[in-house]
Amino acid sequence: MQNFTFQNGTKIIFGKDQEQLVGQEAAQYGKKLLLHYGGGSIKESGLYDRVVQAVLEQGIEIIELGGVQPNPRVSLVREGVTLCKEHNIDFILAIGGGSVIDSAKAIAAGANYDGDVWDFFTGKSPVTDCLPIGVVLTIPAAGSESSAGSVITNEEGDYKRAVGHGTMRPKFAILNPVLTYTLPSYQTACGITDMMAHILERYFTNEKNVELTDRLCEATLKTIINNAHTVIEDPTNYAARAEIMWAGTLAHNDLLNTGRIGDWGSHDIEHEVSGIYDIAHGAGLAIIFPAWMKYVYKHDVNRFVQFANRVWDVEIDLNDLEKTALAGIKETEQFFSSIGMPITLAEANVGEEHFEEMAKKGTERGPLGNFIKLQEDDVFEIYQLAK
Ligand code: NZQ
Ligand code: ZN
Repeated sequence: MQNFTFQNGTKIIFGKDQEQLVGQEAAQYGKKLLLHYGGGSIKESGLYDRVVQAVLEQGIEIIELGGVQPNPRVSLVREGVTLCKEHNIDFILAIGGGSVIDSAKAIAAGANYDGDVWDFFTGKSPVTDCLPIGVVLTIPAAGSESSAGSVITNEEGDYKRAVGHGTMRPKFAILNPVLTYTLPSYQTACGITDMMAHILERYFTNEKNVELTDRLCEATLKTIINNAHTVIEDPTNYAARAEIMWAGTLAHNDLLNTGRIGDWGSHDIEHEVSGIYDIAHGAGLAIIFPAWMKYVYKHDVNRFVQFANRVWDVEIDLNDLEKTALAGIKETEQFFSSIGMPITLAEANVGEEHFEEMAKKGTERGPLGNFIKLQEDDVFEIYQLAK
């Protein structure tokens, strides 16, 4: 196990009706907030009105910026940065999912910076100082509610890039599983796939002697798998929604990668796809992750055998470990398909026309992943396997 420092300062407030505490929590960070949200689901559900009331009751002034799109765009982030500077905003409140939270994080970083906010995503400037942000989460998926990362798309050139810094981690996140009842089943499934991918990225490591985190990963994966069909077939099942929501946060709050180095190649390979084709990140991962697994499993067959056996209950065939490993990959793929995810690029209407460009762009800052370092040719082959 590697040396590590684990610090995650996001205060998690979990359960029914907990969004009523949002005003109290926000009041700790100032008198003027930027309320940031997406395309309208929070207005339809009535959440917007409840949050605004709770904030106003604390005497906090609200400046609003809605309209965050899935795969959030840097143009709206720039608008948010301008608003923060013009109005001397103290605090940003994100109501929504990963896209809204990531957009809020980028605005928070840009608000105290004189240059262009995209500089953080190209590596031109490090993030140093952020406005504090808080979250009311409406979709368990990206784990951004307690992660230190933000992923933003630049419309000029279709670049989707990530940046991470400890000061971008939200101060608090309110998780009420009831707020997820209104999610369309497709979005629920995208979220489930994304959180599973966050665990798998950490699981496929070259680090030996990481039994505790292996087993934490396996337990979290099994819990997600056990509850996935329930939340899709019975969207108002509180018990299952609660399991999925908490799992989504634990999948990406850094606990599961303590002492080990994760891979993250599949995420980078997927970001090239959603950067160009604007498909949901979770759907892209349902396609790319199994393809990545097929490409790399021979590097450590035993790890894939462990995964097949402990997560999917595949019986180990001692005479044919490769068969066991491949059976685990097949289970993963079939599971994604069973919850309504595409498992080939063709199913997501993604053709071969940009394979070369995506492989080139994806690796322009160096090889991807850690389990195996993937060069441009490898990434191209993975797109081939995914078509
Ligand atoms: O915009 P509205 O109208 O709110 O609709 C949203 C959106 O269309 C809808 N939705 C959200 N909550 C709802 C709801 N609809 C009905 N009822 C509700 N309760 O769901 C749609 C998708 O929302 P989005 O925020 O895009 O989903 P998600 O949370 O999956 O976020 C995806 C983004 O996060 C990034 C992805 O790349 C992608 O851009 N990621 C961020 C990470 C991070 N910061 O740590 C890590 C991840 O790996 C990921 O890359
Ligand atoms: Zn993800």
